[in-house]
Amino acid sequence: MKRILSFVKLLPALFLAAILVVAGCKAAPRLPPIDGTALYNYITKDNDYTKWKMWPGKSALYPGREPHGAMLTTYVTDNAFSAIQGKKGKIPEGSIIVKENYMPDRQLAAVTVMYKVKGFDPAHNDWFWLKYAPDGKIDVAGKVDMCYDCHGQQKDNDFIYTSSLK
Ligand code: HEC
Repeated sequence: MKRILSFVKLLPALFLAAILVVAGCKAAPRLPPIDGTALYNYITKDNDYTKWKMWPGKSALYPGREPHGAMLTTYVTDNAFSAIQGKKGKIPEGSIIVKENYMPDRQLAAVTVMYKVKGFDPAHNDWFWLKYAPDGKIDVAGKVDMCYDCHGQQKDNDFIYTSSLK
């Protein structure tokens, strides 16, 4: 009887623990593995990027520059959003930036992604690069020299072009 009673007393604590675990999973979906297909699946299925905030100060289909597209819509994870808005100088590890690149006729041409993974590529601020076609076909993924050679002109700004982080 005593044992049953003490178990009953524990129930509220167990219930709370279960709720915390479920809430924790919901609040922060685990980061994707370091792989192009896994990252693509993550941002299109597990943690649909179209529900994220857009780049601070940018709305949908803002005018873009070469080489990405005439119009761009750029989404960022919350940790990136705070760093950009707060002018933190750097984007924190675990951040993902997803940029949709549109042609002048507003047709989606490609999606380009930057994902910061601790220790992945220290020479290029640990960015993982991904480009895929509207049908999901992956064009490039990983340490992509074509991407970081140009973004390297922004080395003092964490390889970022869209706005100054300082
Ligand atoms: C020739 C230079 C150049 C190359 C090559 C290039 N980019 Fe960019 N990228 C830019 C510029 C300029 C911007 C700013 C976009 C704008 O405002 O038009 C940008 C913006 C971005 C952004 C938004 C974050 C930021 O830096 O502002 C992402 C994500 C991105 N590029 C990914 C890629 C990926 C992935 C590749 C390789 C497949 C790539 N880029 C290749 C010049 C380049």
